[in-house]
Amino acid sequence: MKVGVTLGTPAIVLNVKTYVESVGKTGFELAKICEAVASEQGASIAICPQQVELAKIASSVNIPCFAQHADAVEPGSHTGFVTLESVKEAGASGLLVNHSEHRLKIADIDFIISKAASLNLLTIVCTNNIAVSKAVAELKPYAIAVEPPELIGSGRAVSKEDPAIVENTVKEVKRVDESCVVFCGAGVTSGADVRAAIELGADGVLLASGVVKAKDPKAALLDLATGL
Ligand code: G3P
Repeated sequence: MKVGVTLGTPAIVLNVKTYVESVGKTGFELAKICEAVASEQGASIAICPQQVELAKIASSVNIPCFAQHADAVEPGSHTGFVTLESVKEAGASGLLVNHSEHRLKIADIDFIISKAASLNLLTIVCTNNIAVSKAVAELKPYAIAVEPPELIGSGRAVSKEDPAIVENTVKEVKRVDESCVVFCGAGVTSGADVRAAIELGADGVLLASGVVKAKDPKAALLDLATGL
């Protein structure tokens, strides 16, 4: 079993979702682009491949790979579920939890955070506002990624459209747990968007369409990395 690579900050975390542009061979190429830009620019870049590609990509690139989701279940008779043990075995460094497109119950988030910690998996828990971010911080995840749902996929960056949510999430989360990493996401497409996020106190960004749907994903990622 490959041991997951650690994530340095500030970081760009690319969630490729289930876009047609990120499945199979093109998803593999996106991971290779992330690896190349990380190494050329000395940038901290992680990728969340499509779930069925996770093990293959994690064993082929030297950057942190995160699952897009896992279920709050112990191994056993749960058809079609994803266990934290299988995420670990796939060579991932961690996983996204409670993405806006895959919400979970608070008890399940709690289960996943503590079980992931016991397996040395990093949890990036997505939240939709400051109050939810504060509540999740009490559960001691590795990171929180605040993403206003209405800006997701909009091309309008949270760091410019709603700087207050970024700044106040950082402030409130760090008040609960100083060591919790705070990312922001939604609509981030450029180096200037990333820079604005970092200036607001974020430890990096979580993004998807700005790279996955770009005509030239490598050029898009190179531009984003200038903001770190
Ligand atoms: O997980 C990242 C995400 O929800 C933001 O998506 O397309 O606005 O970068 P996007």
